[in-house]
Amino acid sequence: MTNYDIAAIRDLVARRRPRHALESAFYTSPEIFAADMDAIFNRHWLYVAVECEVPEPGDALAVDIGKSSVIIVRGDDAQVRAFHNVCRHRGARLLPPGPALVGNLVCPYHAWTYGLDGALKFAEHMGDGFDRACLGLRPVALRSMAGLLFVCLSDDPPDDIDDVVRQMEPYLAPHDLKNTRVAHTADLIEYGNWKLVLENNRECYHCMPNHPELTIPLFAYGFGFAPEELSAEDLAQAERYETLRRTSHDRWEAAGLPSRLIEHLDDRPTGFRTERLPLDGSGESQTMDTMAACRVPLGTLRDKAAGGLHFWTQPNAWHHFMGDHVVTFSVIPLDEGRTLVRTKWLVHKDAVEGRDYDLENLTSVWNATNRQDADLVEMTQRGVADPAYVPGPYSPHTEGLVEKFMEWYLARLKAHLG
Ligand code: FES
Ligand SMILES: [Fe+2]
Repeated sequence: MTNYDIAAIRDLVARRRPRHALESAFYTSPEIFAADMDAIFNRHWLYVAVECEVPEPGDALAVDIGKSSVIIVRGDDAQVRAFHNVCRHRGARLLPPGPALVGNLVCPYHAWTYGLDGALKFAEHMGDGFDRACLGLRPVALRSMAGLLFVCLSDDPPDDIDDVVRQMEPYLAPHDLKNTRVAHTADLIEYGNWKLVLENNRECYHCMPNHPELTIPLFAYGFGFAPEELSAEDLAQAERYETLRRTSHDRWEAAGLPSRLIEHLDDRPTGFRTERLPLDGSGESQTMDTMAACRVPLGTLRDKAAGGLHFWTQPNAWHHFMGDHVVTFSVIPLDEGRTLVRTKWLVHKDAVEGRDYDLENLTSVWNATNRQDADLVEMTQRGVADPAYVPGPYSPHTEGLVEKFMEWYLARLKAHLG
């Protein structure tokens, strides 16, 4: 049962002009939002949490995704598992969103009690012939990618996740996510459709005019520019960056730090992109002075100027891995015009706030940047909902990766609609 008009959405997909923004309905229609949840968020691998958030047996985390909610829990055998947060009795939510410490998973309604492996252990007054074995919690597919936790709500998750894990683990492993902890989480509701949030993330066309903090560590021309339009000074900046990117890759790769670009944003179900990129100034971290924010280095990273490894996945995440801290971002659609962007800053688990890092210094670049991006998304949502809106063209120089996101999205939507 679907509550949207498949033929009408198919027509909209078919008449999309390549390399152009989408028609208004894609950003404003509750029906297309419902189709997006079915085709994209209920079927693909979603980044939701970090393994260090459930470090010990009994540590649990409930994450809401649309109408679904998933419990991630570490069992007594130290395995991390995921279950639907729905009681097998009459359906009550077992845990509220957020972290919890549990012995068992006890339903607040009639106290049905599940083990950390999901098995139903106790259910009173159910009489003879009641078969507990059939009423364990329903599992959710879960994969840890060097400590990043991905879930898939489908019973038939895309199996290319194994290949993504194989390619990504060497890039992520040096940062040793399993020995980190979350220093800070920020939940920001952006008043725009989830696709506007992703489109905005997949280009830095808007960085120069909007992100004075972010463009201290990041090179504004790192994701493309029209060479004929740059001033001599800007062109020199862009060339300096290209040289730095080349020489940094050579140096990092020689030191055993995988750095070169891998890009599969539009040619597979689990689209992704990674590359270690040099940072400006000292090259250490995404901070206001480009220096490491945390004194305790991560993992095996001893080159302080290890730049920033970025890792993007379709449809809902991007991350920046640095020598001293990691910032992860997940995108959870709330409705057609609202999207939750959850940001987590991770530091080494032994790092102490106030001694090894200052929280304000650690978070200031991305707190400012997220706020600016939220404003950009909101103003775009208002504009695309205006009857006068006509989709405009993407820049061939700076919005190629926005187009790849759109190609991926439309292909997945089309495959789902048949
Ligand atoms: S709904 Fe969970 S025990 Fe009744
Ligand atoms: Fe931005």
